[in-house]
Amino acid sequence: MPKSSIVTLDRFILDRQIEFRYSSGELSRILYDISLAAKVINREVNKAGLVDILGLTNATNVHGEEVKKLDDFAHREIIKSLSLGGQCCVLGSEEEEDIIPIREEDSGEYIVLFDPLDGSSNIDVNVSIGTIFSIYRRQHQEGTVEGLRKEALQRGDSQVAAGYVLYGSSTMLVYTTGHGVNGFTLDPGIGEFLLSHPNIQIPARGKYYSTNQGYYHLWDEGLKNYMRYLIEDDPATGRPYSLRYIGTLVADIHRTLFYGGVFFYPRTKTNPSGKLRLMYECNPMAFIIEQSGGMAIDGHQRIMEIEPKRLHQREPLFIGSSADVRQAQFFLTQQEAK
Ligand code: AHG
Ligand code: MN
Ligand code: MN
Repeated sequence: MPKSSIVTLDRFILDRQIEFRYSSGELSRILYDISLAAKVINREVNKAGLVDILGLTNATNVHGEEVKKLDDFAHREIIKSLSLGGQCCVLGSEEEEDIIPIREEDSGEYIVLFDPLDGSSNIDVNVSIGTIFSIYRRQHQEGTVEGLRKEALQRGDSQVAAGYVLYGSSTMLVYTTGHGVNGFTLDPGIGEFLLSHPNIQIPARGKYYSTNQGYYHLWDEGLKNYMRYLIEDDPATGRPYSLRYIGTLVADIHRTLFYGGVFFYPRTKTNPSGKLRLMYECNPMAFIIEQSGGMAIDGHQRIMEIEPKRLHQREPLFIGSSADVRQAQFFLTQQEAK
């Protein structure tokens, strides 16, 4: 019987179950629940202009940011889907200040931290947005709320899986369990995510840099030197680089994963920890990019070695092709050495 060229997400997980050191059925179930929520969110994203799902709720989140209706919708859909799946003991969401304990009768062995809708500022103008998720195995802290808070604060290098959904020209789910990175594209006709980008490898070096250059005046001198280096005219060393910045982390990282280069959201004089959240933006993206052969640092150390202290803590992020991230690190540390 010829192997089917159509590989669904579920089939792929089953075929690769030896790679996941726990029961593949549990991982399958979690990824199924996330992909189900993603399909529901995708449906709303695709008709966002037609129904009253755009615009603002009257709420602000823990970060003091206005919560968009689609942020809130995605947040609720993912909680609904994961709470009933029976695999998780606690959830953490950008849109919820504290952890979300799962009731005893539905509790399981996993923790899922997520950014339900990434790129909120782009929702109302039809620019790509995403969902980011990070999966841990429980370490069997005590079953109290305090114990569950500790479960949700494990180092990035303890992740058992991580991934993102990109709601773009097509809807893709990209994830890793520590054995490479694979991409699945949603076939709306059959409602399945089909394997479309097996074993994604990031180029060793790229020709794009991706950052909000509007903050240049707030950067450290070393980073200013790096950016000036990138835009010098020196074809022999592949410069100048081109600037690409979408303002949705998932979309900027997805492009970097395929085209190479470097994305950075650095610390600034006004935001000394940068903007991006460690637990549900930096760590999952770092796991994916490292698994594709790239690098992810806070400017000095690996993102995934940072000891988390708070669910919503922010960290500077430099991520992408290893040669580019190393070069950024050189400029940052060279400046500090002076
Ligand atoms: P979120 O919509 O989940 O709050 O994330 C937005 C983040 C991230 O997607 C993006 O890289 C960054 O904000 C853009 O920030 P600036 O608008 O400051 O460039
Ligand atoms: Mn985000
Ligand atoms: Mn968000």
